[in-house]
Amino acid sequence: MINVAVLGYGTIGSGVYEVIGRNKDIISRSAGDDIRIKYVLDLRDFPGDPVESVLTHDFNDIVNDPEVDVVCEVMGGTGAAYTFAKASLEAGKNVVTSNKALVAAYGPELLQIARDKDVNFMFEASVGGGIPVIRPLLNCITADEVEEITGILNGTTNFILTKMYNEGSAFEPTLKEAQSLGYAEADPTADVEGHDACRKIAILTSLAQKQFVDFEQIKCEGITKITDTDTAFAKAMGKKIKLVGTSKKRAGNVYAEVAPVLMGSDNPLYAVDDVMNAILVKGNMLGDVMFYGAGAGKLPTASAVVSDIIDCVRAGLKNVPIDMKAESMTLGDVAELKSRYYIRSEKSEAFAAAFPEAVSIPEIAGESAAITEELTAAELSEKTKALSGIKNILKVL
Ligand code: HSE
Repeated sequence: MINVAVLGYGTIGSGVYEVIGRNKDIISRSAGDDIRIKYVLDLRDFPGDPVESVLTHDFNDIVNDPEVDVVCEVMGGTGAAYTFAKASLEAGKNVVTSNKALVAAYGPELLQIARDKDVNFMFEASVGGGIPVIRPLLNCITADEVEEITGILNGTTNFILTKMYNEGSAFEPTLKEAQSLGYAEADPTADVEGHDACRKIAILTSLAQKQFVDFEQIKCEGITKITDTDTAFAKAMGKKIKLVGTSKKRAGNVYAEVAPVLMGSDNPLYAVDDVMNAILVKGNMLGDVMFYGAGAGKLPTASAVVSDIIDCVRAGLKNVPIDMKAESMTLGDVAELKSRYYIRSEKSEAFAAAFPEAVSIPEIAGESAAITEELTAAELSEKTKALSGIKNILKVL
């Protein structure tokens, strides 16, 4: 019998409780042992909820109980979540988490403690919700140099951008809908400003390049500057706007960025709508592979959390090393990379002269738009410096 303690009975915690309850037999069979939840830690009471029988308000009940094998941290944030995850590992317990903020900030330290204590720190659910992507990166794409990762990594923003595109929905009510569906972070600024996707591309890049990437070094832009006029221009050009996290290895340097981009139907990520996420990985031998599925939500994310519990049990609760140098990687400057750009501007002769391609794109709401040839950031700013009336600039994949 494997005893699990779940820290937090919010959206994901209650999902873990439900997944283990509903899929008890298949989970026991996969793990080769019975798995039961011995504790659920939460500050709140849940009168009438079956969780009451295992509910505790005191973390000491868990960390001091030698019967607890696996601690499942699904509280979120980097306060108590960090303290409890670290204390659990130090007490010789395996820890699994869905918490990308925790992994992105403290991954190397927690992995080291796990190695020292011969237990595991696993985090499949921290990227892409229910999509298996961490385990394939660690266990399957092992014969390749990973040259590129491009992902739609945030369900909330993809949900908002899809509704803006399909229904012309406004930003705020669509964000509220994403919150009510349990997709958004406690503070949805982390979603809409790209911080959540930034932590996720940092985690994926760290694993792919086998060296820790500090998310604070990654250039990050969210979707708050996207307007319905941008969506209308994208549509008129046969493209969609998507928030993507990317990392690329070029001539020995790794470049990483989070930004909204325009993409056409030739890109496999174009069809990834609503709360779905997808991660395209390019290996130097393998070529492109894409991982697709529900990027947020209670049961998909909980399913990934429980898969980590099962993996810990399959490993005999003993450490399976993760190859990642702890020293933070120095990233290349993304401004050096060339890209095509979408530019939206007030209609003017100066804009049409600088970007003759704008002439073939119909104006919308009295504004013009163009898609440039490939330029570096410096070349772009040289071309736009004398222009007034620029409203938005986005990269085009
Ligand atoms: N807020 C996150 C998202 C949850 O919308 O993708 C899953 O990490």
